[in-house]
Amino acid sequence: MKRYNNIVREFYRRTFLSVIIISIFCLYIIYSYKKAEFSNGLSVTISSSVNDLLSENGIRRLDINDIKLKNKLNKISRNIIYNLNFIHVTVFSTDREVLTSIDRDGYSGLYRELWITKTLEKLNFPDSHRLIYRLQNYDKNVFLQILYPVYSGDKLIGYLGGVSRVDKRIVKDFEDNLISTLLTVIFSVFALSIIIFPIIKTSYNKIEENRFELIKTNIHTLMTLGDAIALRDSDTNDHNYRVTFYSIRLAEEMGLKKYTVRSVIKGALLHDIGKIGISDTILLKDGPLNYEEYETMKDHVILGASLVADSPWLENGLDVIRYHHEKFDGTGYIRGLAGEDIPITARIFSIADVFDALTSKRPYKEPLGVIKTIKIMNQGSGLHFDPKILDVFIRNAEKMYNEAYNLSTDILREKIKSLTDKYFME
Ligand SMILES: [Fe+2]
Repeated sequence: MKRYNNIVREFYRRTFLSVIIISIFCLYIIYSYKKAEFSNGLSVTISSSVNDLLSENGIRRLDINDIKLKNKLNKISRNIIYNLNFIHVTVFSTDREVLTSIDRDGYSGLYRELWITKTLEKLNFPDSHRLIYRLQNYDKNVFLQILYPVYSGDKLIGYLGGVSRVDKRIVKDFEDNLISTLLTVIFSVFALSIIIFPIIKTSYNKIEENRFELIKTNIHTLMTLGDAIALRDSDTNDHNYRVTFYSIRLAEEMGLKKYTVRSVIKGALLHDIGKIGISDTILLKDGPLNYEEYETMKDHVILGASLVADSPWLENGLDVIRYHHEKFDGTGYIRGLAGEDIPITARIFSIADVFDALTSKRPYKEPLGVIKTIKIMNQGSGLHFDPKILDVFIRNAEKMYNEAYNLSTDILREKIKSLTDKYFME
């Protein structure tokens, strides 16, 4: 139930986030488009008026060498300012020298600063009949800034730059229109989300159900495989379950991430899977193995690794299977790895494996108590075992032992099952 609630919560979270992201994206696109459309419309209207006014004022007939040129440009600029509601006009020569620069009364200073320093210096002068324009907010007003190439016939005779304050009613109409469009978009996105929400939710639930079913099947297969291997050289699964339990608990005490604990679980349950390929005469031999038999027995880690290497789901258990007989000082097998070159999951497992071997009853020995076992294992610190991990284990050994040692096989299995569920199903 808790898992289902988490899934539903996650589904709502993702859906809500998606709706918000889609809304923001749509709003941004529409806002940009509307603003560009507004600027373009304004600039076309204003540049057309400027063009007409320039023609009426005979700018096409101006002589660039006329000694009264500046006076004539001043007059034309004033006409633009007062007839077309501009607050500033600058006329440049083709060399981009300022020929005249006029402000509307009461609009000098800051407005001129705004136009000259923040716009013209950033804009390239147009090299054709192209008009450059930009809308800019300033001092609670909206301004249209234009830079306009002036031609006499086909000959470029200069540039006219100007700042026009956009009528507040036009700005208000634009804003009202923009707000209603944006609200419509938000409403449409949410309405669409509500309509398709049940369809997505049903599909999502189905996918999650299938995913969990698949994980459950994998876990069941994993545990069955673990049982089969354990029974190959032992009467019960107890050792396999206990080493898995100690390994999980040690990984938890070390604060390892969920993914690593999952690797520990898979590796621990299947650590000796390669023994399937070792002959009974060696595996079940009653007595110590000779040199050749021991060398053959070592191959179980290679056999085990090759058995699970092609399974994508079991792949992260490979490190324990392949390296669980390595020793911290490099004297183990199969590669003689040393120190932190041995994967952490294998270093964890080897401590759990030896602890359970020492504290368990075997045909050839009685079980040792925890204190004696710890004493023996401490002698292997830095030799057989990673000293830091061993320290964590020893601090918790008694507690872990009491949690698992006297449990029946069935209860141990249930314990492993619930820990496995905890790490794989949530
Ligand atoms: Fe082994």
